[in-house]
Amino acid sequence: MIPEDIINEIKYRNDIETAVSAYVNLKRRGKNLVGLCPFHNEKTPSFTVYPENGSFYCFGCGAGGDVFTFTGLIENLDYIEAVKLLAERSGIALPQDGYDDSMQKLKNTIYDINRDTARFFHSYLMSPDGKWALDYLTERGLTLKTIKHFGLGAAPDSFDMLIKHLKEKGYRESDMLAANVVGKSQRGTLYDRFRKRVIFPIINIRGNIVAFSGRAMPGEDKQGGKYVNTSDTPVYKKSENLFGINFAKSVCSERVILVEGNMDVISLHQAGFENTVAPLGTAFTPEQAKMLARYTKEIVLMLDSDAAGQKAVRRASGILENTGLSVRVVAVPDGKDPDEYIKKNGPERFAALLEGAVSDMEYKLLCAAQGIDLESDDGRLKYLSAAAEIIAGADDIMTRDIYIGKMCEKYGVSRTALTSRVNELRKRNRVQKQKKEISDIIRPRFTRDDINPERRKSLKGTAAEETLIAVLLKNPDFYKTAREQLPPEKMITSLNRRIYETIIDTLDSGGSLDISVFAQKLLPAEVGYVVSLQNGEKAGKNPEIVLKDCIGVILEEDMMIEASENTGNSLEDWAAGLQSIIDKKSKGKG
Ligand code: UTP
Ligand code: MN
Repeated sequence: MIPEDIINEIKYRNDIETAVSAYVNLKRRGKNLVGLCPFHNEKTPSFTVYPENGSFYCFGCGAGGDVFTFTGLIENLDYIEAVKLLAERSGIALPQDGYDDSMQKLKNTIYDINRDTARFFHSYLMSPDGKWALDYLTERGLTLKTIKHFGLGAAPDSFDMLIKHLKEKGYRESDMLAANVVGKSQRGTLYDRFRKRVIFPIINIRGNIVAFSGRAMPGEDKQGGKYVNTSDTPVYKKSENLFGINFAKSVCSERVILVEGNMDVISLHQAGFENTVAPLGTAFTPEQAKMLARYTKEIVLMLDSDAAGQKAVRRASGILENTGLSVRVVAVPDGKDPDEYIKKNGPERFAALLEGAVSDMEYKLLCAAQGIDLESDDGRLKYLSAAAEIIAGADDIMTRDIYIGKMCEKYGVSRTALTSRVNELRKRNRVQKQKKEISDIIRPRFTRDDINPERRKSLKGTAAEETLIAVLLKNPDFYKTAREQLPPEKMITSLNRRIYETIIDTLDSGGSLDISVFAQKLLPAEVGYVVSLQNGEKAGKNPEIVLKDCIGVILEEDMMIEASENTGNSLEDWAAGLQSIIDKKSKGKG
């Protein structure tokens, strides 16, 4: 942990309002400031800065924290790196080393595990035992140079070879699990997550191996699907990474090509198109768009031309709308993917395909014509109304004007008619969008449970935990009372338990409940959760009573959960469980 006084000094010289204003246009609203969130796409501001306590929170996407969390998110740095950056900017010297917090240590261990795992898989691929995998990759047209360049590997057909290897290297089981290269069965035994698969290491923009993707051999994808990927870990969020970005970032200042799969990326890089990236088993996300917007001017979407591909194009171009990137689309002919296309037709034909990329609007208009008979009046009418919908989706008035003109010329309708139809549709869209944005702002509090996935254990109990935390953040003096009546292990959800423990530890050691204390220990989205509790209204007017009520609810819910966990399926068990709840309750009262 970095000492509180140094953190405060850096914060004092980098106030949050100035730091955020460099990226976001902020407007004053009461004592706070609001603007459009830089971390997700929105049209009405839900991103709020609280100068009073140096924090920010977005009601739309849940991002939140202090000035360091903000800098880290926007510059793609982790917390310690962001502290270092702001220290440097304001001319404060940080003493060497010794400031790794526990999260940073865990991250470093995971990076080490990933590196050793990648080496293990690569050596195995290159060994005689890995011949099946090397044969597969070379049959798919990859050269040895490419295989080494991407650090490809192979996972043996074994449940524990990697575990043994990592143990020999001195890693702890809990860290292997945290890196997600190892899984744990219901009975508690550990197993290698990747077995008999070709392995693609996933490398982030800063060159660290953050995850793996493993492809099954043809015909052997019954168990786990064609690709198995690392789940999110402290160093990896799949929605924020792009496969190939570590190589592409330095050659994509003009244009980046977005394809669907890992093999497409590798194949295109090998053929000289190193500005190619792919999302990792997800649809394209706003975070990925944001990252690309910092490195390039234009994005070419090269997705399958089937229905799913077209849907993906629509989605991606929606996401790219407000990034300032120009978007073009290429449909790969004959339902092939780029990997198959370039292997069959060679790099020259591929380059030509790329040149023929049409604007996003043209692509959509082309797709809409599919299956419509444009020779008949009926068909033309149908097509023009679909086209009006598409044109209405463009926010730029000149773009709309150009395509309205083209349509009128081609299909012989009057400009006035088409223009007024487009304007009607825009009006309808605007109303729909506003409704959606309002519900997006209200809904997350109740349904966005990825922050606290254990909420479903007990909605009531979790809500009480949140209120309890909110009360303590605003009234730290009550913490001793709280601790006496509610030991941390009684907290129902582990996220809230960690927050509660942090509150107790910090106050015990004489610190104050500054948001930075949490930002050093929690993930950014989790910090956002703390900020929202800190700045929210949950604490109420009578904190002492609220606190007591919350503790009562949490203890009761905890008891219910315990009882139901100890209960099997039989009627006797159920009755016994019920009895124990009643017993405990009456004991509590007596
Ligand atoms: P595809 O099924 O199009 O695979 O999935 P591909 O890239 O063409 O792979 P090859 O050529 O058959 O080897 C596209 C991408 O979707 C993700 C992977 O990232 C894949 O590259 N995916 C696909 C998964 O994450 N899991 C799956 O089970 C399938
Ligand atoms: Mn493919």
